[in-house]
Amino acid sequence: MKVLVIMGSPRKGNTCRAVQRIEEQMRSRAGPGGEVTFTYLMLRDADLRPCRGCFACFEKGEEHCPIKDDAPAIEAQMHEADGVIFASPVYGMNVTGLFKTFVDRFAYIFHRPRFFDKKALLVTTTGMVGAKDVLKYMHLAATVWGFEVVHRVGLVTLADPLPPALAAENEKKLAAAADAFLEALRRGQRRPPSFNDVLMFHGQRATFAELETIFPVDYAFWKERGWLEKGTKYFVKDVRVNPLYHLAGSVMEWFVRRQVR
Ligand SMILES: Cc1cc2nc3c(=O)[nH]c(=O)nc-3n(C[C@H](O)[C@H](O)[C@H](O)COP(=O)(O)O)c2cc1C
Repeated sequence: MKVLVIMGSPRKGNTCRAVQRIEEQMRSRAGPGGEVTFTYLMLRDADLRPCRGCFACFEKGEEHCPIKDDAPAIEAQMHEADGVIFASPVYGMNVTGLFKTFVDRFAYIFHRPRFFDKKALLVTTTGMVGAKDVLKYMHLAATVWGFEVVHRVGLVTLADPLPPALAAENEKKLAAAADAFLEALRRGQRRPPSFNDVLMFHGQRATFAELETIFPVDYAFWKERGWLEKGTKYFVKDVRVNPLYHLAGSVMEWFVRRQVR
């Protein structure tokens, strides 16, 4: 099982140590034979330049991005992994600039999602506050990109050394994250989508189905995958969609389509 870590901290500090602890625990649970392999992508070392806002990726396709750097290789690394750990400390009450640049450069995936066979684990560390907001933001990005987010962990790192009670609490959170991520990677099969996932599918479908002239690349991407066909319940065919979620999503889609038109 291959795990890719997207590390948004500019240093090998608290966030890196937290992920390394998860790695240790997953390896020891997986047993000898090294069932789990970890690759760390330190965004600080990657050639990933800020988005220039030209809209080429949305309008013409990501291959038309004028910035020639590591972005395509990073996307390929995510495709090769079974699971991705998105990790960023809280800086200025949100993800780091490095992590935000990473999300911006792959903004086209919000329109053309593709990671439905991948699991994601979200990790943040904070001096004191902001972890919830970071996890919420990462959750939104990873989910819309298609990942199944299996667990989120936020650690408080306010003092060095940490008070024993806080250190123990952090250790417990890391152990729970390691367990959940390992279980999800072993399971492989995707869990049924949540209510929000189903609403998101129908909301996006309404938008891209109605905006063929404005977003032809998105329209073609959705059509090619059969997502615009009548009765399609979700991006992935082999999961059960709760019929009530489907009904609510379909009603919402009707309203959104009207609005967009
Ligand atoms: C530039 C900067 C901004 C920070 N902003 C916040 C913040 O808004 N809220 C907070 O509680 N901690 C903040 N911190 C503390 C970090 O979130 C905390 O120390 C974190 O564990 C650092 O992780 P790292 O060692 O992986 O960089 C900030 C630290 C730095 C360097």
